[in-house]
Amino acid sequence: MDYSRFFSDDVPSFLRSPVREIFRKVDLASIYSFAGGYPDASTFPLAEMEGLTRRVVEKYGARALQYGGTQGVTELREIISRRYDVPLERVQITTSSQQGIDVCARVFLNPGDVVLTTYPAYLGALQSFRAYRAAVHRLPLEDLSTPGQGQGEGPIADGRGRSERSERSSDSGSTVYRRAKLIYIVPDFCNPSGVTMSPEERQALVEFARREDLLIVEDSPYRELRYSGTDIPTIYSLAPERTLHLGSFSKIFAPGFRLGWIIAEPALLEQIFVCKQALDLCPPVFDQYLAAEFMGSGALDRNLKRSISLYRDKRDYMVSLLEKYMPTGVSWTHPDGGLFLWVTLPEGIDTVAMYDSALAAGVAYVAGSFFFPDGSHRNTMRLNFSYLAKERMEAGVHLLAAEINRAVSCSSQHVNSQ
Ligand SMILES: Cc1ncc(COP(=O)(O)O)c(C=O)c1O
Repeated sequence: MDYSRFFSDDVPSFLRSPVREIFRKVDLASIYSFAGGYPDASTFPLAEMEGLTRRVVEKYGARALQYGGTQGVTELREIISRRYDVPLERVQITTSSQQGIDVCARVFLNPGDVVLTTYPAYLGALQSFRAYRAAVHRLPLEDLSTPGQGQGEGPIADGRGRSERSERSSDSGSTVYRRAKLIYIVPDFCNPSGVTMSPEERQALVEFARREDLLIVEDSPYRELRYSGTDIPTIYSLAPERTLHLGSFSKIFAPGFRLGWIIAEPALLEQIFVCKQALDLCPPVFDQYLAAEFMGSGALDRNLKRSISLYRDKRDYMVSLLEKYMPTGVSWTHPDGGLFLWVTLPEGIDTVAMYDSALAAGVAYVAGSFFFPDGSHRNTMRLNFSYLAKERMEAGVHLLAAEINRAVSCSSQHVNSQ
């Protein structure tokens, strides 16, 4: 049967995640995977789960198994409101921060609206923006502090694969996107680059957003995973009137619970509240009570301390392995937190083309070009350092370096034979 006529007009805009495709085909345990954004399973509070579960059953009884409010259970919202020092009415629980991104796209974007973001950009967000047929343009952070600057770089394919050019508004003298509505940004230990925005960049971004009257979606699932350097104020704290701050329990508790939160103006949350009724009625109630007990009892902070120490050690080890094995001409970021670092190979090396042979050799990464809407930067890759057990990291980096070395020597033979 030909099903094509049944699919909606949105379906051709859906973007397939290459990361999820890897997980569909490959047993992660059988390879050295630097591909996904999986936390180290040893950070999951398995030992506490029995006690937590019992406490939820005893304390909340049948309420824990009943439908709950669309905005999330009050106990969890109260804990988040205290932890981040925001009023309760500004806290909405989401069924994962991926849903937080998607619900923002659904509530704020019409087909053809422009989203501004830094490149490389989080793939899950690109998937949501595409699904609602929004156009994505690069936000040149480096230019924002100069009034009149802030134009994107060249045309970027929109949800339908067409090109969209930035437009100039001559009356203000500044360059703006006529249809830009929101900025999407991962300011802390960005997935995929590992880069953190400086206080000056945050301030400039906020001033730009105010000048151009844009909303900001601040997606910060890694904020609590800092291994070095000092905390930098959130963008939300600088511009609470126009920022939606997205948080997640995935990296600080367990991704299997699919829980996150949005902190924003009640007038913005109100439409998200209505939209979420159609999505899932309410976030998972039992999971929310577990998270409330975990967070409220101090177990989250104790666990976080252990996770930070483990991930700091893994980050440092990963960097030392890259230094030991990578050929000259390869460079990488040194993130202060989060789960990823970004590797740049010599020009002409194609990490998409290299991928199958790397996987056949037993090592996985994500090609960097997947994080660019125009598919550029094919000589880059994202490496995760949280998932693989430390004892397996050296063999994995060794294999990856061998693949890169092979690609580099093929590329120089090719150049020499021309
Ligand atoms: C920047 C960013 N936003 C959102 C998410 C999704 O997180 P969650 O598991 O809460 O859906 C991720 C997951 O890797 C991420 O890296």
